[in-house]
Amino acid sequence: MNTMVKVENLSKEYRLGVIGNGSLWKDIQSWNAKLQGKPDPWTRINEESRIGRRDRFWALKDVSFEVQQGERLGIIGRNGAGKSTLLKILSQITTPTKGTVKIRGRVGSLLEVGTGFHPDLTGRENVYLNGAILGMKKGEIDRNFDEIVAFSEIEPEFIDTPVKRYSSGMYVRLAFAVAAFLSSEILIADEVLAVGDIKFQEKCIGKMRDVSENDGRTILFVSHNIGAVRQLCQTGILLEHGQIREYGDVGMVLQAYETSLRG
Ligand SMILES: Nc1ncnc2c1ncn2[C@@H]1O[C@H](COP(=O)(O)OP(=O)(O)OP(=O)(O)O)[C@@H](O)[C@H]1O
Ligand SMILES: [Mg+2]
Repeated sequence: MNTMVKVENLSKEYRLGVIGNGSLWKDIQSWNAKLQGKPDPWTRINEESRIGRRDRFWALKDVSFEVQQGERLGIIGRNGAGKSTLLKILSQITTPTKGTVKIRGRVGSLLEVGTGFHPDLTGRENVYLNGAILGMKKGEIDRNFDEIVAFSEIEPEFIDTPVKRYSSGMYVRLAFAVAAFLSSEILIADEVLAVGDIKFQEKCIGKMRDVSENDGRTILFVSHNIGAVRQLCQTGILLEHGQIREYGDVGMVLQAYETSLRG
């Protein structure tokens, strides 16, 4: 088998809130008070000292899995479970605190609405920009351009308009079409269906299935739409507080999720 993604003991730690008092001098005074065992001069009443406070938490903890070529893996879990964090690490938008990620081939990412496209550039310019970021030659993008626009169902007069004037649905349609038609071995999609209408959602699921079955592309799909995950994916991961709670056959993983939501 051809392993496309191999994740080992992946962990990501985030720091929360404001750390420090906002100026170095105030921080030094706070540290000094702390060393002398005096109250921190810069805390407000009933507030803990901000100095040396550890507002850290693990958004992902010890996550390991493998994805084979052509596999469609669904990643599910409640809000804040760590799904987007995982996809951002796989897309190299953020780095892990611990652990390793091995990826074979190019990754096309469709992360939460708002990433990937530049608002001031037109739809056309964004298609070329995204293609270039994926390492594609202009000729390859030229060849796919009409198909991309047709799939997105963006009216021709809008393609030369800055994407900041698009509705969220139009934006996602175009972003999805770019990721689906430009060649990358791995396609990563986070909540892309959420703002599309039902007809477009079905079209996207059909397209992802098609590129995985016919072109052998690997798909990592995050969604709160259980039906869509069931329709598209063969395997699944259930994340809970940054850890893998279930991993395996998608039916089993969805079942475990539904049970945990009720419990
Ligand atoms: N840049 C950041 N700095 C600090 N904490 C963050 C950051 N990004 C995410 N987090 C935290 O990490 C945790 C996991 O967030 P993540 O976005 O991965 O969840 P998710 O599973 O995608 O949730 P949702 O279903 O709501 O999209 C959350 O508690 C979130 O608040
Ligand atoms: Mg998310």
